[in-house]
Amino acid sequence: MAILLTGGAGYIGSHTCVELLNAGQEIVVLDNLSNSKIEALKRVSEITGKGLAFYHGDLLDKETVEKVFIQNPIEAVIHFAGFKAVGESVENPLAYYQNNISGSLVLFEIMKSFGVKNLVFSSSATVYGIPETVPITEDFPIGAINPYGRTKQMIEEILKDIFISDPEWSITLLRYFNPAGAHLSGKIGEDPKGIPNNLMPYIQQVAIGKLDELKVFGNDYPTPDGTGIRDYIHVMDLANGHVKALEKTIHRPSLNIYNLGTGTGYSVLELKNAFESATGQIIPYSITEKRPGDAAACFADPSKAQRELEWQALRGIEEMCRDSWNWQINNPEGYKETKLTAEVY
Ligand code: NAD
Ligand code: UFG
Repeated sequence: MAILLTGGAGYIGSHTCVELLNAGQEIVVLDNLSNSKIEALKRVSEITGKGLAFYHGDLLDKETVEKVFIQNPIEAVIHFAGFKAVGESVENPLAYYQNNISGSLVLFEIMKSFGVKNLVFSSSATVYGIPETVPITEDFPIGAINPYGRTKQMIEEILKDIFISDPEWSITLLRYFNPAGAHLSGKIGEDPKGIPNNLMPYIQQVAIGKLDELKVFGNDYPTPDGTGIRDYIHVMDLANGHVKALEKTIHRPSLNIYNLGTGTGYSVLELKNAFESATGQIIPYSITEKRPGDAAACFADPSKAQRELEWQALRGIEEMCRDSWNWQINNPEGYKETKLTAEVY
């Protein structure tokens, strides 16, 4: 049996490929490479010494998705594929509803028709909107405040309805907090297109000299140093969370929601300082306007995942900074463009 990873060539998907292959799983990746490069999967094979099947295709293309299910004995799906940039979703909401929602509907329809009912879905802490208090537990009210977040919230609702209609489905909704870091080897990592939106890749590009300085979005939040607080989680811990979630999803049919975070928040300036001490690089910065829609503080209570999945984040902020930097200096231009030459890597 095999596990299908939609969007498996992306940042979180590629690291999860490594953890699944290391756990002895057969894997199949479907990705249209709209925000990733095939090189990532070649490096997954280098790291693990194991092969994987790759389909270069779009989730919206029903025939391609069906072909994946016809040609492989899929036991479960981890559904990463989607667009993820908040600002872009505000500018072009239709693209986000089309890709994230319609793509998910095609996938779920085909899973149903092939009788594949095990699913792990990449949701996000963004569904909590601006939380009234922290830490955030899974039963906090949800209320995303931008189109990207609403696609996540809507897909969660669709999946809850699917489960109500047929309790043989086994569905795990993983609400990630802020992924950071890279594989220890420095061979795979986050490779954003253009100027990064997120803090850690932005800091990395300042460190390597591609960007002049970090712009800190506001320093008058009600937090100890006035800058925004987030729950940064090492991408390898997140990847391991998928292995644990998958085990539970396959063996105990139900619908469950888990926060994947560390439970500890760091401010923008704390992260900047941690990066400087972990890497020896100085990050020049200035304080600018707040970014609209940003919460003052957002961090998880991850105790449900700890209890029910026997999972917890093991790596701290120093490792996230060190591993992000290691990836960045080994790959200053990100992944190089390589040709698609095969369907097996
Ligand atoms: P990513 O962009 O690196 O990976 C997503 C992958 O999906 C890419 O490889 C892209 O090419 C592919 N893709 C997009 N649309 C597709 C389509 N229609 N058909 C086939 N492939 C398609 O993003 P990531 O950071 O690895 O995030 C993975 C998932 O986790 C996403 O669903 C994202 O919304 C969610 N998430 C990410 C974060 C984060 O900060 N990185 C936080 C919370 C949730
Ligand atoms: N920040 C800056 N300067 C920057 C970038 C970010 O000061 O150049 C600050 C933000 O104001 C915030 C913190 O750094 O306080 C983190 O910002 P990110 O953009 O890295 O992360 P967010 O928490 O805003 O959002 C990210 C993803 C969302 C996801 C959310 C929770 O972009 O899609 O994490 O998982 F939903």
